[in-house]
Amino acid sequence: MNIEIVENYDEMSKLAAEIVEKQVVKNPRSILGLATGSTPMGLYSNMIEGFKNRGISYKQVRTINLDEYLGLNRNHPNSYHSFMHENLFKHLDIQMRNTYLPEGQAASVDEECMRYEALLDRIGPVHLQILGMGTNGHIGFNEPGTPEDSLTHCIELDESTRNSNARFFDSLDEVPTHAITMGIESILKSDKILLLVSGKEKAQAVKMLMEEPISEDFPASFLWKHEDVTFIVDQDAYHLV
Ligand code: GLP
Repeated sequence: MNIEIVENYDEMSKLAAEIVEKQVVKNPRSILGLATGSTPMGLYSNMIEGFKNRGISYKQVRTINLDEYLGLNRNHPNSYHSFMHENLFKHLDIQMRNTYLPEGQAASVDEECMRYEALLDRIGPVHLQILGMGTNGHIGFNEPGTPEDSLTHCIELDESTRNSNARFFDSLDEVPTHAITMGIESILKSDKILLLVSGKEKAQAVKMLMEEPISEDFPASFLWKHEDVTFIVDQDAYHLV
């Protein structure tokens, strides 16, 4: 793991955008794996700025997202479809038909999981996968206890995850209880992974990532098994290591 310790959230976001833009310039037909949550929002703002001011084009880029809440219509303001559209896609020259997310209202969840994994295999491997990390070490929505050989599947969200994500909803009751997420194995199929972590509330999780053995109890620890991970972390998140 290549570890880059930066001063703050803005520096993390800028450095991450440089890495994404380098990938897209090197291969205009890149496949990018994308994440949601507060962490990548600064990266996405920088990518939008790069499109507007630095001539970076996403016209031929394809994107595949990690996860989606189960039960939310794709037009619901808190669906990850909406998140990606509002925070990134609508500001770029990307073609919407080249952007993929799991379908949160699929008639059969099992079939949707199989379809999504097959899609990943068909368009992949992802050249560069962006990842954030939950305070309990989740990546995508792979909560503690998720096996290393997991593919796209439906999971029940941890109470702690629902509580942290409640800030995006009007109340905790509205946070979905389940989600569809790529599995650990699906994520590790990517050529390169860019892990972004920022802020004091993630410091304990960063310490665990750095010091605990690789185990299902802390899903992000499986990233140590991948040969090309860049971990950009700010000083607040790294201060306990
Ligand atoms: C969310 C997402 C993850 C994200 C993580 C951290 O629930 N499913 O992909 O990395 O939790 O979120 P945040 O960046 O808001 O701290």
